[in-house]
Amino acid sequence: MVHTKKQLILSALLVFAVSATSWANNPPPPVNQLIGIPDSSFNNLSEPDCRVCHEDQDIVNPGTLPDRHHLLVNTTLADPTAAPFVQTGDTVYQCLSCHQQEWDSATSSYVFVSFRDCLFCHEQIAGEASVHHLTNLAQSQNCKACHGPIDNPDDGHYIPTYAPSLVTPWPSRKPNPGENGEGQCVFCHESGVDAGSGLLVLTNNQTHHSTGLGLNDSNQCFWCHDFDVPPDETIRKCEACHGVASLHNIQVNSDNPDNPDTIVPGGENPYWGHIGHNDDCYGCHGFTAMSAAAPYSGPVVPDLSALSFSNVTEGTAAVITATGNGFVNVVAGLEGQEIELTSMVVLTNSEGREFELLPSVITANSLTVTLPADLKAGNYAFRVAKADKMSNAVNLSIVPAMANQNILCRKNSITITGTGYSQYVDALNSGTGLVAVDLSGNEVDCTVRSWTDTKITATCSACPSTVTVNSIWGQDMDRTRSIRPRR
Ligand code: HEC
Ligand code: HEC
Ligand code: HEC
Ligand code: HEC
Ligand code: HEC
Ligand code: HEC
Ligand code: HEC
Ligand code: HEC
Repeated sequence: MVHTKKQLILSALLVFAVSATSWANNPPPPVNQLIGIPDSSFNNLSEPDCRVCHEDQDIVNPGTLPDRHHLLVNTTLADPTAAPFVQTGDTVYQCLSCHQQEWDSATSSYVFVSFRDCLFCHEQIAGEASVHHLTNLAQSQNCKACHGPIDNPDDGHYIPTYAPSLVTPWPSRKPNPGENGEGQCVFCHESGVDAGSGLLVLTNNQTHHSTGLGLNDSNQCFWCHDFDVPPDETIRKCEACHGVASLHNIQVNSDNPDNPDTIVPGGENPYWGHIGHNDDCYGCHGFTAMSAAAPYSGPVVPDLSALSFSNVTEGTAAVITATGNGFVNVVAGLEGQEIELTSMVVLTNSEGREFELLPSVITANSLTVTLPADLKAGNYAFRVAKADKMSNAVNLSIVPAMANQNILCRKNSITITGTGYSQYVDALNSGTGLVAVDLSGNEVDCTVRSWTDTKITATCSACPSTVTVNSIWGQDMDRTRSIRPRR
């Protein structure tokens, strides 16, 4: 069972204690908070809040934050960029794009300008929009880049054009609903306290408008509304992101004892999703005489919560376990036989190149894959894909293997070759530099002359016996080989 994710977010963010004995508000509203992003608003985040999600193995699992930033060194600068100190002419990220020093009169020394306060670099508009929704991705309506259980407006998915009827779902305020209010999204997705997590779920109006998306330009209201159509057609604009095929594939594994380990459309308890039970169909369509299976249903959208490793060293064939919901599910074949639909893993690098991996073990809530050892260092979006349905993305960082291969000394000049040195910042506490000692353990003064990813040169007061290289990718100490000048 996967129900830790939301509880962790909420308990930490909203400082609330998980007290629930019962899971579901049954019948809803509000719905459970087991998949997707909690139905809330996050516009007034402070730095500790950012770390709640971005440092938790079970929520975003993004590699450690320093690694995730440092993998950007020498890659193309984004435009616009959150980097505070970009120099004119820069085309790639440098250490100095993010780290600069300023004079501190209190200590009479240079110190690094704030580099731990997320909001020093990443913009949010208090009360209006979070960092996530001010990104290019969100502004260009690529909502699917971060959100799993939806469609993107321009991906060509099916939206009905036939005349609306009694069974057409409404967002809210349906004039002729079922006897309990069925036939509209708000029948289940209305504000209230979720029994499982204790979270105060907001209205759909609040969750969508509080993103700050589509609010600064009245044309953008049309992302989600067409104020000119009759009210029985308002759902059609919502279908730009909530198409029939994605709505008909949202389902959480319920506690139905007949199939505890997998999702069976039509075979689950009511109100754990959209296609688990006849009452779910009725909840949206407000009409009981439905066919047993919803059209285009089949591959339930997988939801990814966590990876067992957040970063992996380049060159290792790491075995990773992912947990979540709906990695496999069952559909009924034509003769009533059970067909199991299964998922694979898709990794996408920062240039958009995809790598498909087959899991060695897979169940509804977990899968295991072995990463190919030849993946290049960088940040990858890790997703679970089942047929054409993609989960949300979780970041996986492949970090360079840092190691010295050879340290040569000729006269007082040392040349170090190796891998993963990245860049050098000539400052105290920059995390980069050389520590050289002679045979009796006394420090030898060395001044770096040049520093690239694979080669460092320095001038020392004497040939050292060992040299330790400190780089953002690690530390490595080796003996020096001295070359005597030829006569
Ligand atoms: C509720 C959980 C949550 C909170 C709180 C949160 N994030 Fe995120 N963040 C995510 C998820 C999920 C993603 C998308 C997956 C990923 O890239 O790891 C993301 C992605 C990002 C990205 C990448 C955007 C891009 O263009 O791909 C940035 C930058 C970011 N977050 C910064 C922040 C900052 C700064 C804060 C605090 C103000 C913060 N986040 C708070 C969950 C959260
Ligand atoms: C894209 C921006 C960015 C770039 C480029 C960058 N850094 Fe950082 N660096 C950060 C952030 C952000 C943190 C702090 C993360 C945190 O507090 O979790 C950090 C942390 C550090 C730390 C502290 C280590 C730690 O574990 O917290 C050192 C040392 C450091 N950077 C050195 C460097 C060096 C050297 C370079 C160039 C090779 C570099 N950085 C390039 C953003 C960047
Ligand atoms: C010193 C400036 C700086 C600070 C402080 C900083 N970031 Fe960033 N961050 C950047 C830059 C620059 C990028 C690259 C995107 C860009 O250029 O806009 C980035 C990218 C990211 C990404 C996406 C990385 C990727 O490409 O996958 C995440 C996630 C993120 N930051 C989260 C955070 C969080 C959380 C904090 C606070 C703990 C934080 N950042 C602090 C400058 C910073
Ligand atoms: C860079 C990743 C990212 C992109 C792109 C993105 N979102 Fe989000 N979204 C998040 C994160 C993380 C949260 C939770 C924290 C927050 O609100 O910032 C969230 C929260 C939400 C919520 C409230 C939570 C809920 O379940 O109701 C809505 C609604 C939403 N986003 C809509 C959108 C829409 C619409 C788009 C595209 C136009 C979009 N988002 C694009 C990351 C993203
Ligand atoms: C019969 C009750 C019911 C109705 C009616 C209903 N839903 Fe849901 N929906 C659920 C349940 C239950 C979940 C799973 C929530 C969880 O556990 O996180 C869900 C999840 C979702 C999710 C994905 C995850 C999330 O919570 O963000 C989306 C998107 C969604 N519903 C959209 C809609 C839309 C749009 C409508 C109206 C057209 C609608 N739903 C009507 C019960 C319902
Ligand atoms: C990202 C999607 C999104 C965007 C963009 C958006 N809205 Fe909404 N809006 C919603 C949702 C969802 C509701 C709730 C609908 C419901 O429950 O009937 C809503 C409700 C409303 C309502 C309440 C009446 C009603 O239909 O329930 C008004 C008025 C409204 N929006 C106006 C606007 C205006 C004006 C803009 C542009 C400035 C805008 N919205 C942009 C998603 C959006
Ligand atoms: C531009 C894309 C977009 C449009 C258009 C859109 N939504 Fe959403 N909707 C989202 C995203 C993104 C989420 C968050 C999914 C998640 O939890 O990750 C969401 C979530 C939902 C949910 C699940 C509860 C929640 O808050 O997470 C409901 C219900 C919903 N939308 C109703 C509507 C209605 C009604 C409309 C039309 C008035 C509408 N949406 C239009 C993108 C959109
Ligand atoms: C979350 C809301 C929701 C739930 C739950 C739901 N549907 Fe639908 N369904 C829709 C929407 C929205 C449409 C498109 C309506 C429109 O635009 O006229 C649709 C369309 C359909 C259609 C017409 C398909 C077409 O080709 O246009 C059928 C048949 C259908 N649903 C059956 C079902 C059955 C059976 C179930 C239960 C197993 C179900 N639905 C559950 C929202 C839902």
